Amino acid sequence: MKITAAITGIGSYVPDYVLTNLELEKMVDTTDEWITSRTGIKERRILKGEDQGTSVMGIKAVQQLLEKTGTRPEEVDLLICATVTPDMLFPATANIIANGVGIARAFSYDMNAACSGFLFALATGAQFVQSGTYKKVVIVGADKMSAIVDYTDRANCIIFGDGAGAVLLEPNTEGYGLLDQVLRTDGSGEAYLYQKAGGSRRPPTHETVDRREHFIYQEGATVFKFAVKSMADVAAQVMERNHLGNDDVAWLVPHQANKRIIDATAHRMGVGPEKVMLNIQRYGNTTNGTIPLCLSDYESQLRRGDNLVLAAFGGGFTWGSVYLKWAYDYQAVS
Ligand code: UT7
Repeated sequence: MKITAAITGIGSYVPDYVLTNLELEKMVDTTDEWITSRTGIKERRILKGEDQGTSVMGIKAVQQLLEKTGTRPEEVDLLICATVTPDMLFPATANIIANGVGIARAFSYDMNAACSGFLFALATGAQFVQSGTYKKVVIVGADKMSAIVDYTDRANCIIFGDGAGAVLLEPNTEGYGLLDQVLRTDGSGEAYLYQKAGGSRRPPTHETVDRREHFIYQEGATVFKFAVKSMADVAAQVMERNHLGNDDVAWLVPHQANKRIIDATAHRMGVGPEKVMLNIQRYGNTTNGTIPLCLSDYESQLRRGDNLVLAAFGGGFTWGSVYLKWAYDYQAVS
């Protein structure tokens, strides 16, 4: 009997503080009109406070996931955290999250594939389930982008926000769950979207701090061009090779980087706006958080058997698309 890996629950968390376009107008030379028309973003959430890292949000998302799915921490076999803003370079934020929720009989590790990280981690975790090796795998996508955003750089500070989401993967023998994926990287994209210092090539010094090299560096227009083409290409490829017409797709679940990139992907797939998950207006680009936060926001509208096409593009460059058949009807937890 063929085993597939199905998503059987979702948890999410966004911090309370809302950073609006109006507040950004006071910080940099920008306008609500420019941000809204160029990106689709109205506000984003920011994690405030001393010693508050990405794990704080990851823990809350996983706690909710375990509660909603009635999973005991000791039942979890593996936890993977996709993030570009780990609490620290090591140990892994996945370990801190696992410890924070009482997952003690598992192994855990981080994955970094920039904004495509959640998809890469989802596809990786699914392999352990499909092979019959593990039964309960938690995939977390979490980022505190505000930790690496330069709030004097108007082209980039308007895009990013903080947030986390988590899903549970379990074996399924009825044909639901992850059915296909196309995942890609092109390392020559390195120079267009990266954090210049802080790693082994350029460790932190007073000079790297003075040169603002610990913040995100992005050549937005170049990234935009690659993103529009690549995300649409892989989403279309996944549809084609699974013989999915636009009527067969119930939902496009796109990485939320820029509404214009999302629109271009939907257009290429022939999918109408009513089938596109969108919450960029409220959260901005939460990097690894975007896709699970979308699934969380739309969970009540998802039906067993729905065909979902997930798609992402990020620094590195990394990009990919996952095709999955949704495994359950939503039931509100009272
Ligand atoms: O998630 C990972 C992957 N990342 C992405 O997918 C992001 C892709 N890139 C983008 O979404 C867009 O490139 C941005 C939103 C980052 C920037 O938008 P853009 O339309 O590509 O702007 P640009 O950088 O080409 O700049 C165009 C103009 C410039 O002015 P001049 O030189 O033409 O006078 C910028 O200085 O817009 C100006 N500008 C702004 N004006 C008002 C840039 N940022 C702002 C701003 N407010 N916040």
